[in-house]
Amino acid sequence: MVMKNKKTLPLLGKILQKLAPQIGAKVVIEPDWQIAGQIIFKNGRKRYFRYSSLDLNPLGATEIAKDKDYANFFMKKMGYPTIPGRAFFSPAWSRAIKSSRNIEAAYRYAGRIGWPVMVKPNSGSQGRGVAKVRGRQEFYRALRTIFSEDRVALVQPVIEGQDYRLVVLDGRVISAYRRTPFSVVGDGISSLDKLIKNKLRLFHVLERPATIKSDDSRLANNLKKQGLTGRSIPARGEKIFLLDNANLSCGGDSADVTDEIHSGFKKIAIQLTKDMGLRLSGVDLMIDGEIAAAPKKYRVIEINAAPGLDHYVRTGRAQEKIVEKMYLQILKALEKEVR
Ligand SMILES: Nc1ncnc2c1ncn2[C@@H]1O[C@H](COP(=O)(O)OP(=O)(O)O)[C@@H](O)[C@H]1O
Ligand SMILES: [Mg+2]
Repeated sequence: MVMKNKKTLPLLGKILQKLAPQIGAKVVIEPDWQIAGQIIFKNGRKRYFRYSSLDLNPLGATEIAKDKDYANFFMKKMGYPTIPGRAFFSPAWSRAIKSSRNIEAAYRYAGRIGWPVMVKPNSGSQGRGVAKVRGRQEFYRALRTIFSEDRVALVQPVIEGQDYRLVVLDGRVISAYRRTPFSVVGDGISSLDKLIKNKLRLFHVLERPATIKSDDSRLANNLKKQGLTGRSIPARGEKIFLLDNANLSCGGDSADVTDEIHSGFKKIAIQLTKDMGLRLSGVDLMIDGEIAAAPKKYRVIEINAAPGLDHYVRTGRAQEKIVEKMYLQILKALEKEVR
């Protein structure tokens, strides 16, 4: 994806530039777009990054991780509890490859697995196009939105539980946090429209680049499902969730759980990262139960080969410290010879 607005640029370059001197390294950032950079280490070694992609993971493994359907195939084959579901193709693509897995087939499949269903672009990220939908109209609309960007869409059952992100680097969990979807809290006076606008404005002030916009149809859909409109006024302290995906890049909230997470979950994330051929990853788990208890009911939502930590860093001072520590470890890992 091409990001045109400089204000929404990832902060990776900035963070690396700030941290590099601590290990005697230097970061050169391409000035026009400020998304591509070069790290020059003390020993003369050079490494590169673009957006949140760093020179840590091999290309093949990265390509598989980026494709949710492929990644699910391999993860499932190795015995990981993935989210069941199926891939379907855009009208043009299903014609081109002469496949009957088109939007109508997707709709029938959704009916078979039971409404509501989760739909998402196969190679998407940051929660773009991810929606929980119910019924024909909502389903077709969501799939058309997905097909405007991706020729493959996934249809999945809705999995219950809490969403967690575990960041793994070279066999260690360097951070873990719980994520909750974009929400607003009522003050007893303001309408939901106002509360949403205020929250998005706050993100802007905090330089927390949320990819969610106030006119995102998923927000209106979510309100409707809860019997609300933009003019409804929530009670003071009442929390209203407005999206079905907990991505921080869509304005979700995070709570650090690095110190409470059960070692069983850490082991799973570490092994999965290794099994998927990655050194650095963001493992997303849907956990039905306590994060502090031994793993019982959970599923792997996806594995990210280029976990962007820039949204996390903006969620608070403590997170900023955690992320800086994480990137310092990443910088040190980059300095070493690759295998
Ligand atoms: N099948 C599902 N059931 C319930 N929630 C889901 C499901 N799939 C995705 N989600 C929610 O949406 C978020 C984003 O989905 P994900 O597949 O990770 O796409 P992206 O690559 O855009 O992050 C997840 O972290 C989770 O909160
Ligand atoms: Mg994700």
